Amino acid sequence: MLPLKTTLIPALALAIFTMNAIAQAPQETLAGLRQQATTTPGFQGFSATRGEQFFKSTHSNDWSCATCHTQNPAALGKHAKTYKVIQPLAPAVNTERFTDQAKVDKWFKRNCNDILDRACTPLEKGDVLTYLMSLK
Ligand code: HEC
Repeated sequence: MLPLKTTLIPALALAIFTMNAIAQAPQETLAGLRQQATTTPGFQGFSATRGEQFFKSTHSNDWSCATCHTQNPAALGKHAKTYKVIQPLAPAVNTERFTDQAKVDKWFKRNCNDILDRACTPLEKGDVLTYLMSLK
């Protein structure tokens, strides 16, 4: 049998790594965005007010983020085209939100492209997440 140290330590390391890959706190998702946004000239932190404005305004197209996620992202949303119910975006009422980096990246990419015809900047994403995290 292998000594305990050689089997247990890699197993523990793997378990910790896997946990990280599966779930992260919304605060960690925000910290990642902050790290990216610091390269923006003049960056002075995220703003919930700016995030709310961004979320509720139209940009290049007819739709805003609120078109599907509603003016109250702490409540259920509804897809503007398919009418499918969308679970609330605010992490305070939906604990799964912003805990899976791959999912966050995928949907920011898709939704920003729909709304702005481009990717959102780290500043825009951080503002939106700060706004969503401010909702109770
Ligand atoms: C056409 C409808 C629609 C619009 C408009 C829309 N979304 Fe979404 N959004 C969805 C759907 C559908 C999902 C995936 C289903 C789900 O997670 O409930 C989603 C998921 C997300 C997620 C995933 C969050 C997570 O961790 O689970 C984020 C972030 C998001 N949207 C942000 C935005 C932002 C920011 C905008 C505006 C730029 C926006 N959405 C506009 C439909 C929309």
